[in-house]
Amino acid sequence: MSRGPWKGRDFLSILDLDREDALALLELADQVKRAPAEFSGALATKVAVLLFEKPSLRTRVTFEVGMTSLGGSAIYLARDQVGMGEREPACDVARNLDRWVHAIVARTYSHATIEELAREAEIPTINALSDREHPCEALADFQTIRECFGEEAVTLTYVGDGNNVCHSLLLLGGMLGYEVRVACPLGYEPAEDITREAERLAAESGGRIVVGHDPRELARGARVLYTDVWTSMGQEEETQRRRADFSGFQVNQGLLSLAAKGARVMHCLPAHRGEEISAEVMESPAAVLYDQAENRLHSQKALLLRILGGV
Ligand code: CP
Ligand code: NVA
Repeated sequence: MSRGPWKGRDFLSILDLDREDALALLELADQVKRAPAEFSGALATKVAVLLFEKPSLRTRVTFEVGMTSLGGSAIYLARDQVGMGEREPACDVARNLDRWVHAIVARTYSHATIEELAREAEIPTINALSDREHPCEALADFQTIRECFGEEAVTLTYVGDGNNVCHSLLLLGGMLGYEVRVACPLGYEPAEDITREAERLAAESGGRIVVGHDPRELARGARVLYTDVWTSMGQEEETQRRRADFSGFQVNQGLLSLAAKGARVMHCLPAHRGEEISAEVMESPAAVLYDQAENRLHSQKALLLRILGGV
């Protein structure tokens, strides 16, 4: 099961994986979920630092619980405790941390900061969300999709802002052969280079990437409807404009009725009921949001095991 090259590597983007890595991680995540006791102690003595510039519930708790349940430990450092970029530059933060701990799990405003940490640190760096990607979220999401639909590469329609979560879903979905459709307002399309990469991956895997602006058209027949907040962390001053720009892009019963029978609704959370998702859909049996959140734990444990060398 151990594939040497992954050990000790960074995970800044889904593009740090190949298809084989991604499938191995998803299988390990299922195994960790089924039999967590088999892995307790696998990372004994290992320490991860969680270096977070933005708030978090799921990512922080699942990395902390994940490290503890594998026999290691985690240290959480919030923005004001470190003052990265103010008290000292990111390069010096990285060059200190790598003398004491075994991995940096970083949530930053700018993806360039995570890249700098990864470049400067002699230990692996994991992207716990940046403005460009949220690769840990996508791993948990595809674990959840596989629990719902098995290995069938179903159609997933993402409705909302073409940013970090959408980017990682496009890349992982494209890599694994899914049809990933994005329905976003004009001006909120995913980054062009990400779309091109996802299309390249999809061409290799038999998947398909579609980016458009009509949520009703793109939801038709989908097996998964996925959404995320209209205003991401760090964009708060754009909230009013975004509410107007995203009107008509809510995942609600009307949109769900256009999707395939038995379709599931997904959201990375936190959610704003009445904005990007209706309360009714969020509370409906179609919603698998808390399964996604649970799987953050299992899939990140798999990631930590692969990167820190437990399996
Ligand atoms: N989905 C997610 O990453 O949640 P948090 O922002 O609470 O970590
Ligand atoms: N797009 C959201 C995801 C939160 C998990 C944000 O960046 O705030």
